[in-house]
Amino acid sequence: MELQEVLRFADEKVFSKTGKHLDDLQEAILKETLQGRKYATKIAQDRDCSEGYVRVAAAELWKILSEVLGEEVSKGNVRAILERAKFYNHSSAIGENYGTVNHNVNICQERARSPTETPNFQQTSKQPHIDLGDAPEIFTFFDRTSPLSTLENWITHDRTRLIALLGISGIGKTTLSLSLIDRIKTQFDYVIYRSLGFSPTLDATLTNLLQIFSQQSETPQSIETKISHILDYLRKYRCLIVLDDVQMLLGSGQLAGQYKTGYEDYQLFFKLIAEVCHQSCLILNSWEKPREIARLSKDNHPVRCFVLGSLGEAAKEILNSQKLSDEETWSTLIDIYQGNPLWLEFTATLIQELFGGRVSEFLHCEMPILDEGLQSQLSQPFGRLTPAELAVMVHLANQPEPLAVSQIFNKIPFSPSEIVNAVRSIANRFLLDAVEREKITLFSLNPVLKQYVKTQYLSNR
Ligand SMILES: Nc1ncnc2c1ncn2[C@@H]1O[C@H](COP(=O)(O)OP(=O)(O)O)[C@@H](O)[C@H]1O
Ligand SMILES: [Mg+2]
Repeated sequence: MELQEVLRFADEKVFSKTGKHLDDLQEAILKETLQGRKYATKIAQDRDCSEGYVRVAAAELWKILSEVLGEEVSKGNVRAILERAKFYNHSSAIGENYGTVNHNVNICQERARSPTETPNFQQTSKQPHIDLGDAPEIFTFFDRTSPLSTLENWITHDRTRLIALLGISGIGKTTLSLSLIDRIKTQFDYVIYRSLGFSPTLDATLTNLLQIFSQQSETPQSIETKISHILDYLRKYRCLIVLDDVQMLLGSGQLAGQYKTGYEDYQLFFKLIAEVCHQSCLILNSWEKPREIARLSKDNHPVRCFVLGSLGEAAKEILNSQKLSDEETWSTLIDIYQGNPLWLEFTATLIQELFGGRVSEFLHCEMPILDEGLQSQLSQPFGRLTPAELAVMVHLANQPEPLAVSQIFNKIPFSPSEIVNAVRSIANRFLLDAVEREKITLFSLNPVLKQYVKTQYLSNR
């Protein structure tokens, strides 16, 4: 049986059961395997990705085919199983129930296109149009291998349309997104980075984006037409757009994730990016989780959240670049400052200036010492807290051990509902640590935040 015929059959079977066609990577794996070749090295080289990544994709493919064909499929038996299934399928094709596809579902052609079809949108060029606007220049980038490959996988393999890259200020969102751009830019026709740090209106942001796409100063008047033009571009071209500092669109003195007055229409724009069919990806960087992101990511849309955490051992490179000494104590310093690159940069400068670069001498001080720059960073999210959130933070700062939400009830003058909502909101600002112990979720503040609350809000410090 012809290779192309078997491939087409596999694709049709997968589509009929799942509503999705095989993507390019799955097709390549299948093609190589059907020809009895070892696929991992070649495909990894062709696509400039790791062999491990290809193997994971292959394992996933065998799983899908096993479900679709009703028997255990592996690389060793896939050809035999597909040929047999095709033979029986052909003989019983008349009257066969192909109805497992839900025809009421609007299947996005960009995501579900057969690999054998010719796409009707412009092919991705090797030289994308890149406009990074006011993006900071990245001089050093220490290891973020795992977040980078997860994000790349979401964008390239899963065709995720909207990604929220979240995490406390200074953790490295801007740096990571710019490094991601550098890594995957050749897959796109347009690569755009914009900071929303000065809180531009949606109208201003759309106009700015349209000018990049059309290279003309004339843009449509109405916001609806602007959105519709942007969506046309996102359909026609494969675009990667990073909107940084999205927290600047969100308000203060209210629970996390709510838009400031005059900025609510961003919510609709982001929702449309998630829901409307197109071939592009929008990344939103924020130190506060916008409300609709939580909802959309649960609703089976191609929307994901990535919460960026500690830089881990790689943070030692930061200490090394600041020429600190006592390397054996660096892990302790990194733990105290949560592997937050910005917090560590502030602290390393302080250690260099006042302690001659000696980390162990610095660690003899009562920990943690909060550099003035670090405190000023924290004043931004703290300045947005509601009275109930602040009361929860102050209560938690005084606790030696993590607490369950119910243990905060009656300890501060707010109702249980207000406390529950406040805890969730603080978590959406990435100011809360949660652990699960004996099936109970316990909350606490990390040492830096505890110290900040004590310094700023408790008179006994
Ligand atoms: N992976 C990394 N390697 C080296 N430096 C980093 C890394 N991530 C962040 N930094 C540094 O930490 C600081 C804060 O990073 P940034 O990306 O601006 O954080 P965020 O956008 O989350 O506030 C910057 O000075 C940046 O250079
Ligand atoms: Mg940033």
